[in-house]
Amino acid sequence: MLQAINHLLKRGGIQIQDGLAQSITPGAEIEPPDSPDRESLIALVNSFPYWYQRIYLGQGVYTLPVLQLHNYVWQAVKEMLPDGYNGASVLDVGTNAGYFSIQAKLNGADQVVGVDFEDRYLKQAEACRTIWKLDIDYRQIDIDQLQPLAMGQRFDVVIFTGILYHLKNPLGVLEQMATLCSDAIIVETEVISPRHKNVLHVRQGPFGRTAVTPCHTGFMKFIEKYELNGDGSNWWVPDEECVLGMLRSAGFKHFSRPRYFGETRMLVIAT
Ligand SMILES: C[S@@+](CC[C@H](N)C(=O)[O-])C[C@H]1O[C@@H](n2cnc3c(N)ncnc32)[C@H](O)[C@@H]1O
Repeated sequence: MLQAINHLLKRGGIQIQDGLAQSITPGAEIEPPDSPDRESLIALVNSFPYWYQRIYLGQGVYTLPVLQLHNYVWQAVKEMLPDGYNGASVLDVGTNAGYFSIQAKLNGADQVVGVDFEDRYLKQAEACRTIWKLDIDYRQIDIDQLQPLAMGQRFDVVIFTGILYHLKNPLGVLEQMATLCSDAIIVETEVISPRHKNVLHVRQGPFGRTAVTPCHTGFMKFIEKYELNGDGSNWWVPDEECVLGMLRSAGFKHFSRPRYFGETRMLVIAT
């Protein structure tokens, strides 16, 4: 069972609920208002050499043909936070083409800011936002820089999906997210599989009574160069306990039960 959390804050707080769907039930897509004709939408999709996110643009046109991980993540998040976006301010970190920003806005968010450091993705995000005629503020920011992230405000919800393992400084960035987040952070990340039993022998224990002991969780693997997915932008893969420990250290206190997509992708919501 997911732990039900009633975190009463200024906005009424977010409730994390149990009862996750196991799959996406295909439903009718909402159509963007006055979307361009199908040929123009297809031409827009083809004008970009690569899409990471599957976004609906209207007239039956998607940026990618098949459902992707983020579509399943969104489905799970919607069930865990049924009223999570109503009237909320939302920060979407590593927004890519803006899939989560668009969903947040379509689900009642009052204000959405999406940040990414890649110009090519922000161009896609802007193109999709224009089609949907949504008020979303996209900004080009490298969140891995250690200087404080000056956003000028706090956000009710921080969407932090598919980004943790791309950071050189994951704990430092989570600490910054905690200062920017006034209610809930949605973390989805690559993780070390919980199925395999790992062990490290390290010094642990209180002052004066430390001893080298076997330790089974709380690890993060350093990824050198192209070890993961041939993608040089991956740096660290933590295990579940490491993710939770970093979130606790950053100041988050209440957690949903972690949910897995396959054996190495984990979703947790913390407040
Ligand atoms: C794996 S994609 C995940 C996209 C989206 N959040 C999702 O869950 O579908 C990672 C995104 O984070 C962006 N990104 C990676 N490192 C970043 C950084 N240091 N600052 C800002 N954006 C970053 C990438 O450009 C990319 O768009």
